[in-house]
Amino acid sequence: MTSSLFDTAPDFSQPIAVLKHCHDRIRKQLATLQKLPAHLAEHGADAEAQQAAQAVLKYFSHAAHLHHQDEEQNLLPMLQATAQGDDAALLHDLAPRILAQHQLMDADWLVIQAQLDKIATGEDRALSDALVRQFAEAYTAHMEVEERNIAPMAKRLFSDEQMRSLGDAMQLRRGITPAAQDTPGTPDTSDTPAVAAATVGGVDLADLRLDYGRASLDESDVLDDPVAQFAKWFDEAMNAKVFEANAMSVATVGSDGKPSSRIVLIKQYDHSGFTWYTNYDSRKGHQLAENPNAALLFFWRELERQVRIEGRVELTSSEESDKYFYSRPVKSQLSAVASQQSEPIASRAQMESNYAAVEAASGDHPQRPPHWGGYRMIPERVEFWQGRASRFHDRIVFTLQPDGSWSKQRIQP
Ligand SMILES: Cc1cc2nc3c(=O)[nH]c(=O)nc-3n(C[C@H](O)[C@H](O)[C@H](O)COP(=O)(O)O)c2cc1C
Repeated sequence: MTSSLFDTAPDFSQPIAVLKHCHDRIRKQLATLQKLPAHLAEHGADAEAQQAAQAVLKYFSHAAHLHHQDEEQNLLPMLQATAQGDDAALLHDLAPRILAQHQLMDADWLVIQAQLDKIATGEDRALSDALVRQFAEAYTAHMEVEERNIAPMAKRLFSDEQMRSLGDAMQLRRGITPAAQDTPGTPDTSDTPAVAAATVGGVDLADLRLDYGRASLDESDVLDDPVAQFAKWFDEAMNAKVFEANAMSVATVGSDGKPSSRIVLIKQYDHSGFTWYTNYDSRKGHQLAENPNAALLFFWRELERQVRIEGRVELTSSEESDKYFYSRPVKSQLSAVASQQSEPIASRAQMESNYAAVEAASGDHPQRPPHWGGYRMIPERVEFWQGRASRFHDRIVFTLQPDGSWSKQRIQP
């Protein structure tokens, strides 16, 4: 009997088996991650802990992300296009939950990643046991739902041609040309990070721009849940390497009725809202305190797309603000403490001196100031705009109904 020297993954001609293989790898990394807090408590960030942290970091920063993209951009849309009857109803329920869970797990991962970065270099031993448990439990439950419902459905419904197309898209995402995967026993590449993804789903990015000039947005293309639809477009923008896809304009109006807008970076979105972080004493902070109604705007030029989100804004909890604040690089934490955002100051030199004073006082462990934290917009209206030829654009608007459901309506360009 011969045995391969390599850890072999199923062939990409069986894409569902490859996805299951990815789940098994995720389970393996979760098991390592869950052992770390106890090990760190006993031994600190020793060589073994560093090695474990590096392995977990490598997997969740690259391969797990590709795996989510396989599901979000290929598997689920293909199933949605194919499923009927009970299958379609189940998908209608599950798909938005799967997408939202990806977002939540990504948010937890951000914090765990920041802690593991320091463990991997032996710099620190702090790793939140509770967060690790929450992350592992969420992932485990998530994978079970997919394995119980999504994988069998895909196996049952997909034709050979659809399986081939799914496998091809997954390979291309990993920088593999489909023909290169014909040999059984090829080294495991299911976790290989994408090489400068020049192609997305088999489409050359340079062509993508041209194609989008002819793209359309039909009522039937748009998911019934605006957050899931936003997730779909956001991922497509990230994949198309749109410049600063996570930058959005936030427009606010204070009690004087005069609007003001600025760019911030979105840090999280899910069914509870769209979150960014800033200084509560800034100009936007004062305006939001006077009037919590605001408008967000994303413009993804390369894809000729715009998303407008309007709603009420609330503060994130201090736990959430802490979680994000302490996940930032220390220098960014120090900047946040040192800056009285939007207040006048005499000179750059004065700013530098304020920063140096904060650094001298708090070193590598600044405390989050109470006036720095997150805002979360709870959406009431979300509009998806797709550019079309001759300015005859597509616009689909979601409006929140009193019973909490969303209505969907086409409006004129
Ligand atoms: C690409 C980009 C990203 C930005 N991200 C943030 C951010 O996440 N939070 C923030 O407070 N300011 C961010 N800013 C700065 C804001 O645009 C703005 O200058 C600052 O928040 C003060 O705005 P205000 O005086 O209206 O409160 C960003 C600016 C740019 C151009």
